[in-house]
Amino acid sequence: MEELNISEEDKRSKYQTLIPQLQALVEGEASLVANLANVSAALRQTFGFFWVGFYLVEKDELVLGPFQGDIACTRIGFGKGVCGKSWQEKETIIVPNVDEFPGHIACSSMSKSEIVIPIQLNANVVAVLDVDSKQLNNFDDLDKWGLNQIANLVAECFY
Ligand code: SME
Repeated sequence: MEELNISEEDKRSKYQTLIPQLQALVEGEASLVANLANVSAALRQTFGFFWVGFYLVEKDELVLGPFQGDIACTRIGFGKGVCGKSWQEKETIIVPNVDEFPGHIACSSMSKSEIVIPIQLNANVVAVLDVDSKQLNNFDDLDKWGLNQIANLVAECFY
C-alpha cells in the first residue's frame, strides 16, 4: 500500500468523512479489540499510512495492541520512545524526523516520521495511537486535529 501525497484540503476532507464513519462503527460494537482493529484498518485504508496501531497501557508498560503494518516491538516502558513519552506527557507528539528524536524506538528502518496520540479516559492514559510514515515530515496540525478526534472516540471504547 502506498502512502498518499495529498493536499491539506483533501486531508481535512478525508478526516471529516472518516470520523463519523468510525463513530458509527465503534458505537455499535462492544468489543475493544474489534474496534481498535477496525479503526487501525480504516486509518491505513484511508491514508495509506506505513504503520498504524495501538499500544495499550498494562501496569508500567505499553503492550502492542491491534495494528496494521509490519511486525512491531511488543513492549515499551513508561517514558521510553515516542509512545512512552506521549504516555508520560499526556500530549500528542509529532516527530518530523525519527532519527532526530532522542530515544526513538525503531521498529522498522523504513519509518521516517511519526505521530503519537495519547488516549485518555478520565485523565488517565489507557493507550496510545501510533502512526508512522515512510516520508519525512508527514504529519502536521491537521493530523493532530483529526487523530485527536479519533482518539476521543476510541477512548469511549475503554469504558
Ligand atoms: N517508534 C515508536 C515505537 C513503536 S513503532 O514505531 C510501531 C516509539 O519510539 O515509541
